[in-house]
Amino acid sequence: MTIWNLGSINADLVYHVPHLPGPGETLEARSLSHGLGGKGANMSVAAARAAARVVHLGAVGKDGTWMVDRLLEYGVDTRCIRSVGPTSGHAIIAVDDAGENLIVIHGGANRAIEAGALFADMDGAARGDWFLTQNETSAQAEAAEIAKSRGLRVAYAAAPFDAGAARAMLPFLDLLVLNAVEAAQLEEATGQGIDTLGITDVVVTLGGRGCRWIAHGADPIEIPALPVTPVDTTGAGDTFTGYLVAGLDRGLPMEQALTLATRAAALMVTRAGTADVIPDLKEIEDVAFGP
Ligand code: RIB
Ligand code: NA
Repeated sequence: MTIWNLGSINADLVYHVPHLPGPGETLEARSLSHGLGGKGANMSVAAARAAARVVHLGAVGKDGTWMVDRLLEYGVDTRCIRSVGPTSGHAIIAVDDAGENLIVIHGGANRAIEAGALFADMDGAARGDWFLTQNETSAQAEAAEIAKSRGLRVAYAAAPFDAGAARAMLPFLDLLVLNAVEAAQLEEATGQGIDTLGITDVVVTLGGRGCRWIAHGADPIEIPALPVTPVDTTGAGDTFTGYLVAGLDRGLPMEQALTLATRAAALMVTRAGTADVIPDLKEIEDVAFGP
């Protein structure tokens, strides 16, 4: 089937720094790299690398043609990416020697996506397809509602966390993916445990400790992480979600899809960069993880 991903497209400026800067600190980067990113674009590329058919719903400015070209090159269907206004989204990312990061984003065109345009773009969406989204665009809940009404399965990564956006998405979700911090924030925002929200499947990612799958009404199942030395954790969570939805779209049982996603994320953590370095299925099968 097809994955319709409403998501951000960002130009990532990645600064490699000896440590993450503190308040008031001026710090010289050792190097700078420039690439395609955005949580949405990263997830689209991951799903396409996982051999899924992906239509990206999104927007860039006049300066974003290169990003659309790159998505196309990576196997993503770009026919529903619109050009709106002068400025694309971008991200300033600092990565330290331990692979930890600090990210500041500017939404730009990502925040100018209109629900009406999405309804037209999603004309070809059909029952059994997936709709996927995150929190770096506008009109997520409107698009999720139409997706749900057309019989699509709805997946949502609650990142970066936004209580209002998350609450608006809750009625439509089949699959929720979030990290432990976001899970605590959602519990605080709703006054409910994430296992009591009535969502079919919730997956909590735990970084170096793997992930926890909570199927509605069932006991949680833990999937362990793989031993890797982190180089750059940026985009690993997005890679996990893209691979997970691609696996489910292909009909894999949840535990197998989670195992595949875990391998993809582990390999991604060993690579500097975001969308441009997301591994494909063959790379994931070939790699041997070990201490
Ligand atoms: O999750 C990583 C992503 O967050 C980066 O690619 C950056 O663009 C921000 O959206
Ligand atoms: Na990375």
